[in-house]
Amino acid sequence: MMKCTGWRCLLFLLPVIFLLPHIFSVLELHHSSAIKDPLKKRAQKLDHLVFGPAAGVALQNRMQCQGTKALNKTRHSSLFHASHPGGSIAFVSVFTVYNASINRRLKRPDSDSVTVGNVSYTKSERSMAILDVFARFIQLTMPRSHLFILTDPASDLHIDRKWITVYPIQGQYSREELMLQRIRSYIAFLDSRLKELSKKKEIGQIDHYIFTDTDIAVVDDLSQIFYEYPDFHLALTFRNNKEQPLNSGFVAVRGTLDGIQRAKVFLMEVLKAYSTRYMKASRMLGDQLALAWVVKSHLSFDLRRFAKPVAFVEKINGTSILFLPCANYNWTPPEGAGQFHGMPLDVKVIHFKGSRKRLMLEAWNYFNSSSNMDDMLCLILASGRAKYDF
Ligand SMILES: *[C@@H]1O[C@H](CO)[C@@H](O)[C@H](O)[C@H]1NC(C)=O
Ligand SMILES: *[C@@H]1O[C@H](CO)[C@@H](O)[C@H](O)[C@H]1NC(C)=O
Ligand SMILES: *[C@@H]1O[C@H](CO)[C@@H](O)[C@H](O)[C@H]1NC(C)=O
Ligand SMILES: *[C@@H]1O[C@H](CO)[C@@H](O)[C@H](O)[C@H]1NC(C)=O
Ligand SMILES: *[C@@H]1O[C@H](CO)[C@@H](O)[C@H](O)[C@H]1NC(C)=O
Repeated sequence: MMKCTGWRCLLFLLPVIFLLPHIFSVLELHHSSAIKDPLKKRAQKLDHLVFGPAAGVALQNRMQCQGTKALNKTRHSSLFHASHPGGSIAFVSVFTVYNASINRRLKRPDSDSVTVGNVSYTKSERSMAILDVFARFIQLTMPRSHLFILTDPASDLHIDRKWITVYPIQGQYSREELMLQRIRSYIAFLDSRLKELSKKKEIGQIDHYIFTDTDIAVVDDLSQIFYEYPDFHLALTFRNNKEQPLNSGFVAVRGTLDGIQRAKVFLMEVLKAYSTRYMKASRMLGDQLALAWVVKSHLSFDLRRFAKPVAFVEKINGTSILFLPCANYNWTPPEGAGQFHGMPLDVKVIHFKGSRKRLMLEAWNYFNSSSNMDDMLCLILASGRAKYDF
């Protein structure tokens, strides 16, 4: 008898469909669209974790590791059950599913499987596995939250979990337009929340929203940003990068009428900038460029603030925007030479961009067997530079 648990079970129930790597992240799309010779590409990608030195040695407030053993204790299990009064968090992600007909058209066999831990995944199962781990981390660190998965109505996605809602939104989910569609879906979702809020006679509990890619691990409670910075409408993550100072993989929206309304207007402006200026880049970086363009075009502050990883709030056309450092809220394993100088002790979100998806699953497996989040962070820090095959 085949035993099946959780979403693996669900996978067997899905008809034979082809799950394209959906919106993992912008870089993922870049990588997948850049593949000309899959064999050659695969050859460069590793099917096991490769450990290098953990960046940030001796730097203050950076994770210190000995192998995968963390020398700092940064998290306590009690932390994950802290509850804030008066509101909960809903995560919102776009996830698309393409089916077998597309698969055949592309003549891409769905047979080359990849093994992580003791589980083998076909190509079609991989994006589902990422979504699964994404959800598991949220459940672990923010057990009271809800997850909305915005998807193509034509896609065959069923998830039988109380805290997850599959939310179909009509749109253009072709690969070429996926990044554009993501913004449209966010806007449509915010619109539906506005309608819902206006129907309510009295506003009781407020839900705040965090829009993210699915290739992230939430490793700390994020609800605190809404209390620590009580005045923002919309939060974005920034990094010290002249061309692309903003990453679109994490957007937080305060769940008040004002917050949702302003976030919607802001995203509509990003959408406009995207479709009028950056369509050539629509497969990959268009949304980040559009985001940066909108922010810069309403410039009332010194862009040099992006150089220092310290959160700040600025008004843009009347909308109060909280800028959160990627170093904490959208941390990516260093790509270059110590880009982020290690991992901050209070890192909250890890983004497994591009070819780091294997690491996301390996990290979850490691945590599942060790129950030690700090050690898991060391595993990520030490092995995040390699390109993996998953
Ligand atoms: C982290 O651990 C290292 C090594 O034990 C120690 O020197 C450092 O002070 C610790 N950092 C913090 C903030 O506790
Ligand atoms: C894989 O299976 C072996 C033997 O069945 C077991 O010892 C090991 O812990 C498993 N590894 C994982 C990651 O589940
Ligand atoms: C899957 O294929 C059917 C028919 O081949 C098509 O009508 C449907 O739109 C496709 N679904 C997606 C998500 O592309
Ligand atoms: C500025 O904000 C107003 C009010 O929200 C909005 O109607 C308008 O579209 C915004 N203008 C620009 C250029 O963003
Ligand atoms: C976590 O580990 C347990 C065994 O220790 C296993 O039964 C379970 O399937 C694992 N969960 C995930 C999500 O890997």
